Amino acid sequence: MDEKVIITIDGPAASGKGSLSKVLAQDLNLYYLETGIFYRIFAKEMLGQDHNVKQLSQVISKLKKEKIDKKLRNIENFYTNEISELASNLAKKAIVRKFVAKIQKQYLKTFPSQYRGVILEGRDCGTVIAPNADIKIFLTADLYVRAKRRFEQLNKKSKKISLESVMNDLSIRDSRDTERKLSPLKKAEDAFLLDNTEYSFLETINIVKNIIFSKIPTLKINI
Ligand code: DC
Repeated sequence: MDEKVIITIDGPAASGKGSLSKVLAQDLNLYYLETGIFYRIFAKEMLGQDHNVKQLSQVISKLKKEKIDKKLRNIENFYTNEISELASNLAKKAIVRKFVAKIQKQYLKTFPSQYRGVILEGRDCGTVIAPNADIKIFLTADLYVRAKRRFEQLNKKSKKISLESVMNDLSIRDSRDTERKLSPLKKAEDAFLLDNTEYSFLETINIVKNIIFSKIPTLKINI
């Protein structure tokens, strides 16, 4: 297979797109690009600052690709509630989206050649970052089911937080991500819609693999 494959997985928070993409990346030897982490890295730089154009521009000039590469090697501390909120708020701003989209497109062009392609996940991957992707999936699930999954994840890490509050946070973030003017979360016209409310993680993986293999049978070889 000469051509590199591009697969996008978009969807709301806690739909399982991150876990799914990681498994697919591993199983199919694809480079994994988590697009939300770029907004989180930006948000962490902005913590405690005003969000005016001057401050935003300063962070942009500081965050070169090499610096982001370095941060991507240790991303554990980027998943706090505070950063999730700020990332989603900053993602509404044109100056931030333009900067992040440019860097993400650079990653799409420069990922290491040993991979058979790239799988990117986020909100605007199939619509803006990789509109010509070979396969696009829009993964979603009911708010209650997503909140429950996230709640269980957080409780495993012994974070004391109620299901109601997780559900409330997700619902606010969903509205902000889908209602913003610039590159809102939405299904690309040519994306497969997969609502995994009723499916286990394993079932979701298998369904998506079947979609991928039916479109690109060569990806099945050597796995
Ligand atoms: O996927 P995530 O939850 O880590 O993303 C954090 C925030 O970043 C999300 O609430 C909105 C923003 N985001 C975005 O606007 N576009 C993307 N492609 C990915 C994330």
